[in-house]
Amino acid sequence: MIFREVFRGCRAAVVMVVFLGLVMPGSAAGGEKMPESKSTGAVRLPVPAIDGGMSLEKTLSARRSVRSFKNESLTLDEVSRLLWAAQGVTHLRGFRTAPSAGALYPLEVVLAAGNVDGLASGVYRYRPDHHDLLVIGRSDIRDELHRAALHQAFVRDAPAVLVISAFFHRTTGKYGERGIRYVHMEVGHAAQNVLLEAVSLNLGAVVVGAFDDARVKRVLSLDAREEPLVVIPLGR
Ligand SMILES: Cc1cc2nc3c(=O)[nH]c(=O)nc-3n(C[C@H](O)[C@H](O)[C@H](O)COP(=O)(O)O)c2cc1C
Repeated sequence: MIFREVFRGCRAAVVMVVFLGLVMPGSAAGGEKMPESKSTGAVRLPVPAIDGGMSLEKTLSARRSVRSFKNESLTLDEVSRLLWAAQGVTHLRGFRTAPSAGALYPLEVVLAAGNVDGLASGVYRYRPDHHDLLVIGRSDIRDELHRAALHQAFVRDAPAVLVISAFFHRTTGKYGERGIRYVHMEVGHAAQNVLLEAVSLNLGAVVVGAFDDARVKRVLSLDAREEPLVVIPLGR
């Protein structure tokens, strides 16, 4: 009798562990040490609204690369929606706004904030599972980032800049060489989500691929294994 109770208890514990393994943060990354270990705190983001905005067709037809921004701040709500569009979690099992080969989620989103209401200037790492921002650094690095991006002035002038980076090994660990191609596809999906969300919010954005990888890594304090893939200045 007692044995049967103990067995039932163990079985319940195993079921819970498996469930948590499916929904808990970082489960897709194979339990690796996350780069968030560099953080000094977290900032909660407003829950992103998923109604309103314009039709997808209007959004697609209005999207254009924007390289000139007003000297006006973004709201934290806008930033929250843009981050969510990039990599937000949309399913109990951790699936996200952008597709990912094998649901391995190699992408990371890093925010360089310079003029965002309610958010101190600094560098932040988006945590999709928590929908919050981990503080990585507390200074405005947009000037250094624009120099790393071959002096493209709009990187410095944008109130906020998203950088999408990747841990390739999360995907190549399963798919080998082909995983590199998958990660490159994924960053395109995520970047386009951000561009379309920007249009929907009546903001401007451009994807920037011309930058010095090592310099961007240094400016953003990225992990040694992490590669920056796209820089997206955002503004009004
Ligand atoms: C992979 C990639 C890299 C890009 N890199 C830059 C860049 O470094 N600087 C820039 O001003 N625009 C960059 N662009 C934006 C293109 O110049 C722009 O998409 C193109 O001129 C078409 O204009 P549209 O986006 O308004 O349709 C890049 C676009 C892509 C897809």
